[in-house]
Amino acid sequence: MSTPSSKPEIATAYDRWAETYDEDDNRTRELAAAVLRQRNLDLTGRDVIEIGCGTGRNTPWLAERAASVLALDFSEGMLRQARARVQSPRVRFVQHDIRAAWPVADGSADVVIALLVLEHIEHLEAIFAEAARASRAGGELFLCELHPMRQMRGGQANFVNRATGEPERVPAFLHDVSEYVNAGLSSGYELVHLGEWRDAGALRNDAPRLLSVHLRRSSGMLAAVPSETSKGRLR
Ligand SMILES: C[S@@+](CC[C@H](N)C(=O)[O-])C[C@H]1O[C@@H](n2cnc3c(N)ncnc32)[C@H](O)[C@@H]1O
Repeated sequence: MSTPSSKPEIATAYDRWAETYDEDDNRTRELAAAVLRQRNLDLTGRDVIEIGCGTGRNTPWLAERAASVLALDFSEGMLRQARARVQSPRVRFVQHDIRAAWPVADGSADVVIALLVLEHIEHLEAIFAEAARASRAGGELFLCELHPMRQMRGGQANFVNRATGEPERVPAFLHDVSEYVNAGLSSGYELVHLGEWRDAGALRNDAPRLLSVHLRRSSGMLAAVPSETSKGRLR
């Protein structure tokens, strides 16, 4: 995987996808948007950072509630679509690779939102640490990602390249549920809610499509868990 200083392969894949991202049928994208709306996050008057905002499909909904939304993404193409969609004095789009330090002061945000972006991040801990640094005491982090059970069955962000007509899969990393939760605990968050979401009409034994994790920054000491998010392999 590319380092933050070179043009990352994932950003160029999303540049190629950007023009058709909103047109494509995409049940994962739709369900993640529905989950965000259903979770009743307290956004009113709060300062929000949306990481991996993409074409800004959820940014207007956030901006209607929040005092401010800083929307970060490293794909120029996706941001072009987002800027065309959203003109709000409360929203600022910034092209930024979230694996590098975020362009925000310590303790300046209340809520960090991550929808369908963390599957593209190899090392989760740095992202959670950055979210914690950017957040005020009591700040929240809400993420919703393709469920790892789906990934194990081959699920991965994919699209048809309009220029070539060829299917493309965007590079992704598998993270167990425990890795998401433990990365949050290690950065001083407490778990508020864990959600596993199926499509309407799915069978009980179908793999959930999405995982959501809602965390809140504890006001006191860091939680007493090892800093490494163990993969939990027994020997
Ligand atoms: C599947 S799209 C999701 C977009 C939006 N959140 C949604 O739900 O429609 C993933 C987005 O994450 C962005 N992304 C992936 N890795 C990133 C990184 N390291 N830094 C910034 N953005 C990243 C991509 O450019 C893309 O726009």
